[in-house]
Amino acid sequence: MAKVVVSDHPLVQHKMALLRDKNTGTKDFRALVEELSLLMACEVTRDLPLEEVAVETPICKTVAKKLAGRSICIVPVLRAGLGMVDGMLKLVPDAKIGHIGLYRDPQTHKPVEYYCKLPADVHERAIVVVDPMLATGGSAAAAIGFLKARGCTHIKFCCLIAAPQGLKALQEAHPDVDIFIAALDETLDERAYIVPGLGDAGDRLFGTK
Ligand code: PRP
Ligand code: URA
Repeated sequence: MAKVVVSDHPLVQHKMALLRDKNTGTKDFRALVEELSLLMACEVTRDLPLEEVAVETPICKTVAKKLAGRSICIVPVLRAGLGMVDGMLKLVPDAKIGHIGLYRDPQTHKPVEYYCKLPADVHERAIVVVDPMLATGGSAAAAIGFLKARGCTHIKFCCLIAAPQGLKALQEAHPDVDIFIAALDETLDERAYIVPGLGDAGDRLFGTK
């Protein structure tokens, strides 16, 4: 089983409190999602491979370390995953971006695919799938399934809030995928919304309700 990392960083917890607040408006919500994504990117990229390189400082020659191989590919799950891309790009500016469009059917809560566009070399890259919410786990499991069907093998998943049910479902569907979470919540309600959660992440990010 791959690892599950739940952040214990004080800045993450502080910003999550602001993000959850129903009085936080669209502009601040968007900024907080970006800041939280940057903080989570530190965790997600912690084990990226390095290689030694020769560097000449103003003082002398030395050996330092740089990232090895191709840069990562960030794959937001539309729509809400888009809010996490800029924060991650601040730390990994040369990352490629793929997009997977899914929405949850309001009756069945099952994911429905409507868009998929990935870099041609996606299967050769380490991939970070981003989506603020892991509720039933259906959307994340489907998105990762699409990537595996296209030959991707090194996949991580990063979200801001997870419900225990979604975490379990994702681990069962993709036991090889490391999962990074800013906050692990209590449960789901009858509409499959996360409790206490933050409401509808897409609507709060884009001001659609
Ligand atoms: C939200 C969220 C996830 C999904 C999580 O998207 O961004 O993609 O729900 O739920 P699940 O774990 O039960 O699948 P939504 O379907 O509301 O679409 P949106 O981002 O376009 O608003
Ligand atoms: N999608 C959201 O945006 N919020 C939830 O609580 C569950 C799914």
